[in-house]
Amino acid sequence: MGLSKKDLYYKGKAKIDNRMINLFGDFGWNQFTGAIWEDVFSRYGMQKKSLIVEVAPGKINKIGWGLSRYRFNGKIYIVEPDIKSLKSITNQYKRILKAEIKGVELTLDKCTIALPKKVNAIIANHPLDDMISGKLFTKKGFDKFFGATYKNASFKRETWKKLDKDKKRVEKAKQEVIDEWCKLIDSTNPDLVVIAQYESWFFKLNHIPQPDKHAFDVLQAIKKKYKKYSLNMKNKYYIEDSRRWLILKFR
Ligand SMILES: C[S@@+](CC[C@H](N)C(=O)[O-])C[C@H]1O[C@@H](n2cnc3c(N)ncnc32)[C@H](O)[C@@H]1O
Repeated sequence: MGLSKKDLYYKGKAKIDNRMINLFGDFGWNQFTGAIWEDVFSRYGMQKKSLIVEVAPGKINKIGWGLSRYRFNGKIYIVEPDIKSLKSITNQYKRILKAEIKGVELTLDKCTIALPKKVNAIIANHPLDDMISGKLFTKKGFDKFFGATYKNASFKRETWKKLDKDKKRVEKAKQEVIDEWCKLIDSTNPDLVVIAQYESWFFKLNHIPQPDKHAFDVLQAIKKKYKKYSLNMKNKYYIEDSRRWLILKFR
């Protein structure tokens, strides 16, 4: 079911665009990303039997495929405030992982009370743009934005154009996301932190630059704060731009 090395060498390097999705479909794309995560776990020394936290998976199983390929068999806390997504992802993980799975139905700013004081790793795939949006939209607006189908690119483009007019508000939201990530890291004492925030093929294709730009700023700010511990993404299949991966190795 997994992808072969040949698949992973698609045009030498992974291209986030519609060709990739056309080639593999959403399921294949999730598996492809999972295969990169598997390599990251092994390359940066995450223990198979350890205690880890995944933040904001939504319903989308990408990291789960990576954990399954890696034969992870420890305990995973899944921080996901949307109850439907949390139920869906925990059910998917239960089917493919021999691990203990614990759902934490809380936002990032509140989740530390439900987490241990010491964890081995914190991992997240493409969480930052949605976290920024979550602070800028009302709950109804957030659901509408994320409920909008791919066809509704113009709605998303206009929404972001409007939001971006209030620069101060956007910067405040970004700073909150940065602070919440730092609080999570400081209060759970991880050995490894990995956040993937590659460019979204959908936003790129539809000329909606703001979410990728703001998310990248947030990623860079977290990287800067923990500069001493920051490593380069060494996986050669990394998704287009290695700078869009944050890897902090504390020990
Ligand atoms: C769609 S998923 C992100 C993409 C997904 N990880 C992937 O790999 O494709 C975004 C999730 O972030 C969650 N989210 C938004 N704001 C959050 C916050 N402040 N703390 C934790 N999760 C948040 C949302 O509930 C949503 O399910």
